[in-house]
Amino acid sequence: MSEPVQTPQTFPTRIFSGIQPSGGLTLGNYLGALKRFVEKQDEGIETIYCLVDMHAITVWQDPIKLRQQTREAACGFIAAGIDPARSILFNQSQVTAHAELGWIFNCIARMGWMSRMTQFKDKAGKNSENVSLGLFAYPSLMAADIMAYKATHVPVGEDQKQHLELCRDIAMKFNNDYGVNFFPIVEPVIEGAATRVMSLRDGTSKMSKSDPSDQSRINLTDDADTIAKKIRKAKTDMDPLPDHVEGLKDRPEAKNLVNIYAALAGHTPAQVIKDYAGAQFGTFKPALADLAVAKLSPITTEMSRLMQDPAEIDRILGEGAARADAIARPILNDVYDIIGMIRSRQV
Ligand code: AMP
Ligand code: TRP
Repeated sequence: MSEPVQTPQTFPTRIFSGIQPSGGLTLGNYLGALKRFVEKQDEGIETIYCLVDMHAITVWQDPIKLRQQTREAACGFIAAGIDPARSILFNQSQVTAHAELGWIFNCIARMGWMSRMTQFKDKAGKNSENVSLGLFAYPSLMAADIMAYKATHVPVGEDQKQHLELCRDIAMKFNNDYGVNFFPIVEPVIEGAATRVMSLRDGTSKMSKSDPSDQSRINLTDDADTIAKKIRKAKTDMDPLPDHVEGLKDRPEAKNLVNIYAALAGHTPAQVIKDYAGAQFGTFKPALADLAVAKLSPITTEMSRLMQDPAEIDRILGEGAARADAIARPILNDVYDIIGMIRSRQV
């Protein structure tokens, strides 16, 4: 039987991130996550991207829709530039290390830590007696997703910051409890102009696939007309754009549109303000709509082309899962050794 791993290790850079296939992908997912996943891949870093179907079922999912949305999200990744040969792309449920390590982390994480998670509080609302136990344990499974690969960097939107802090706490407690330097302490990568894309209807709430109003978001499956219409109708105030970014303070809707423009164009908000200082929304919105259509239409078109061949998507996901498993399984075996589980079936 192998002995627990005790030697200090250094951790090579490895990126992991995930998106829930719990609805269509939004512009928020694209700018806050997907676009940056592609940038990391193109920088030549090892990248592992996961459709977290087990996270999705922490709230009810219709099985037929879940399958459809998982394939659609996979197509969204590929259409946006994820190359399944260079990145590992798979769905979470197919690599059982996630669930196995998730359970172990449930025994590391403390009730108090979990109770402080704002996303749980937001999602559970007044209904906390009646939500699933999985929703409460969600961040611990998320930590397992990352640590099953000893990933060191996790690109996400702003809303995931607290979950990544919890992941660090879990990794540190595991290392401490067992006297090992086994898990890396992960670095959140929250960067760019659109780390928190807001609703088009309310500049103070996040653009989300679960918002009941479709007008509040741009979906990656929206056609050019719909995108343009939603942007034209986006809520704004009556003032022209300021001549300094500071002038966007206390103007959440205006700030959101400027940030979206900046992220789509690959500029900073300050550059956008320089170009559009004093512009009315009557001028700025059509410019933003044109830019959004130019950037998103090719992705939408490619997504619908890829969706024609579900068997090919499943094949790509399966291949990704096999590659992911090959990394995660030895790590999990080490974890079992560390914590004192007899690996009686090991070959
Ligand atoms: P989710 O759709 O909740 O699974 O989120 C997947 C990824 O997209 C995470 O990295 C989120 O932080 C990011 N994300 C989701 N919504 C937004 C948003 N409105 N703005 C920026 N990033 C977002
Ligand atoms: N919780 C993330 C979200 O809703 C999705 C997610 C699950 C994730 N596991 C992850 C993100 C691991 C980064 C790393 O946005």
